[in-house]
Amino acid sequence: MQRIAVFASGTGSNFQALLDAQARGQFEAAAIRLLVTDRPNCGAVAKAQAAQIRVAAFTPKQFPAKSEYERAILQVLREEQIDWIVLAGYMRLVGPDLLQPYRNRILNLHPSLLPAFPGKDAIGQAIAYGVKYTGVTVHLVDEGMDTGPILAQQPVQVEDTDTVETLADKIHQVEHKLLPSVVADLLRYPIEIEGRTVRILKESRKRDETTRIDQRIG
Ligand code: GAR
Repeated sequence: MQRIAVFASGTGSNFQALLDAQARGQFEAAAIRLLVTDRPNCGAVAKAQAAQIRVAAFTPKQFPAKSEYERAILQVLREEQIDWIVLAGYMRLVGPDLLQPYRNRILNLHPSLLPAFPGKDAIGQAIAYGVKYTGVTVHLVDEGMDTGPILAQQPVQVEDTDTVETLADKIHQVEHKLLPSVVADLLRYPIEIEGRTVRILKESRKRDETTRIDQRIG
């Protein structure tokens, strides 16, 4: 069984969308085992408790350095034998202590069409810039701020009447579908990474099945 940890700092609506997807059976044999947060009182924690998911809450300020903070997280990830990390509204840059053991196994959700509007307040940045389309990106995490290879994107139209709040609602609706579907794909299919290009090899399992069927027929 593949085990997932979700990292969140906020309301946790995307964490909830992942829990709902799991309850619907969208992740087949995989399981969300852990919520990691840097904000012990955030909404995501209450959602984890309601779903009886283990919570690892660490306040970064209580550690002498980021490296110690991340090594404390790593210890819990190892205890729970976590395979995949999903950053769902986790508002910190992931450092080398987590990146190195989980290279290409950390996904981030970002509320813009990257590389536009990286970093904080992507929705406010899009409104201020006056773009007509923004959207949602799910990408693999590398050393940079929202710079890793892109797994999936979906555009969202910005109407003249949109405010940060109304646009955030529209973006959330897209996120709640896109993130679980990318997670389901990664659990199911291998990926191929060539430079910045990631391909989810959806044909490979089908091809395996075809081969098996051919062999049975033969
Ligand atoms: C989401 O919109 C996510 O894209 C964003 O935080 C929100 C969390 O909402 N992430 C970032 O901005 C990361 N740079 P939620 O707590 O309701 O899931």
